[in-house]
Amino acid sequence: MVDGAVPRTPVIAGNWKMHTTLAEARALATAVRDGCRGLTEIRIAVCPPSTALAAVAEVLAGSTILLGAQDAHWEAAGAHTGCVSPAQIWDAGARLVILGHSERRHGLGETDEVVRRKVTAALLQGLTPLVCVGETAEERAADRTLEVVTRQLDAALGDRVAGEVGRCWLAYEPVWAIGTGQTATPAQAAEVHARLRAALGRRAGAALAAACPILYGGSVKPEVTSALMTEPDIDGALVGGASLKAADFIGIVRAGLEAKGRAGASAR
Ligand code: PGA
Repeated sequence: MVDGAVPRTPVIAGNWKMHTTLAEARALATAVRDGCRGLTEIRIAVCPPSTALAAVAEVLAGSTILLGAQDAHWEAAGAHTGCVSPAQIWDAGARLVILGHSERRHGLGETDEVVRRKVTAALLQGLTPLVCVGETAEERAADRTLEVVTRQLDAALGDRVAGEVGRCWLAYEPVWAIGTGQTATPAQAAEVHARLRAALGRRAGAALAAACPILYGGSVKPEVTSALMTEPDIDGALVGGASLKAADFIGIVRAGLEAKGRAGASAR
């Protein structure tokens, strides 16, 4: 953190992936909203499937919980069967969008270039892109982690100017940790977060880099959150499986608040 900088607000975001019917999404959003009432010292986001965005927006209306989408195309409209545009997710109430998630990179063949176009389009729409980067197990074994995540970050940001870079949030999500129950150690994650923040600093200046939330994702559970978020450069968590259970997600939010020394400031 640069001298005199305001401490970053922690962020906990839930990625519901391809889960929840409309009724389940409304119930989960209601439980998260009610369970997090009064927790003002942390930013909380939920990212339901696109089918449930509008319904969850209604549940969250009047709360401080941010609504996010899990992806968006790079064009505002057009002949793109099965896709949703930044304008459409905005219209449904989303203000955040996950981009470059490894399940899209590795499961659906999304390239660095596609991620770059999506980040550009999301910024144009006024959305906050939550840009995900992360190495595979093979890349980590070959000691290529820092090279891979830096390449992904540089590609995603393309030639965006500093002001635009400063509107992005990042998530470090090692592919080997997602959905496997194998969480990165705090030291492993902290090393990558520091590298990402340094890379941001080179592009956008120290002040914007110091203000950028960098989340860790990959098998985050309430019991591992505290150790991860005690690391100064780990500002929060992008939570998959555990975000589908309101009690676990709220437990992660509370653990994050405590790790950052902010629990006392929020109503209990
Ligand atoms: P997980 O997913 O918490 O289920 O590992 C994390 C993510 O993909 O964002």
